[in-house]
Amino acid sequence: MNHTPASASHTALVTGGAGGIGASICRYLADAGHRVAVADLDAAAAARVAASLPGDGHLGLAIDVSDEVSVQRAFDHVTEAAGRPEVLVAGAGVLFFKPDGQRPLITEISLADWQRTVTINQTGCFLTCREFARRLPEGRSFGRVVTISSVTAQLGGYRSNAAYIASKAAVIGFTKALARELALQGVTVNSVAPGLIDAPMLRQSLSQERDSEAAAAIPLGRIGLPEDVADAVAYLVSEGASYQTGTTIDVNGGYRMQ
Ligand SMILES: NC(=O)c1ccc[n+]([C@@H]2O[C@H](COP(=O)([O-])OP(=O)(O)OC[C@H]3O[C@@H](n4cnc5c(N)ncnc54)[C@H](O)[C@@H]3O)[C@@H](O)[C@H]2O)c1
Repeated sequence: MNHTPASASHTALVTGGAGGIGASICRYLADAGHRVAVADLDAAAAARVAASLPGDGHLGLAIDVSDEVSVQRAFDHVTEAAGRPEVLVAGAGVLFFKPDGQRPLITEISLADWQRTVTINQTGCFLTCREFARRLPEGRSFGRVVTISSVTAQLGGYRSNAAYIASKAAVIGFTKALARELALQGVTVNSVAPGLIDAPMLRQSLSQERDSEAAAAIPLGRIGLPEDVADAVAYLVSEGASYQTGTTIDVNGGYRMQ
């Protein structure tokens, strides 16, 4: 066994790192002593998040996870500035609604909206994870991959659309496939499936005035916080999670129990 000391610091690349949940994950990883590369389509917001993190060596950068070349360049950039990422959190994602704020039914989803969702949520996860895997050294080494799926993939969803649900279900399957392929290299691969989390994506469809109504369906009685998700990610990245791979951690307040 090649156990890395619990205090080891690694370079962590977080896609969607400027988002509500992503920024919280970045903070938790920085607090744990890692150098964090905050990667997002919104490069200026990524730079702001990186500048706000405790400790040294963090950076913000642009990435479009749906673009193969952009993903390769982002990994090059991070490797040059902070060393090869040994931790990857694939958090970038999109969820669209109709102009009136309602979720589109399957009959209403355009091919363009379907493809945009799948290309960012599903293919983007594949492209970032593939780049991470391609850069692993020969033999065993420390490595952690955490993907962000969703309770909606497990339940069929109430407030999201079928393109999003299908793309997040694909993320769970892909996570298991990658976990099997990287296990012998010492890399664990797991997913976190958030429920209703007080972050921008949820706020597209739920105003704060309706929180108590939504919380009534959640056994723990509240909407989740980005920190609830970040805590689970931080655990999966830690040395203590070295015997856990191919799993999905539900962070949903009991909204869905297996
Ligand atoms: N908020 C929730 O209730 C909830 C629930 C379940 C799952 N999730 C998942 O958690 C993740 C974060 O969600 P959030 O609520 O913080 O939303 P958010 O919109 O704040 O964060 C998403 C981030 O992804 C970035 N992004 C979008 N397209 C990108 C691309 N092509 N390349 C790189 N970055 C891109 C956005 O700029 C944004 O910063 C998403 O994957 C989402 O599907 C959220």
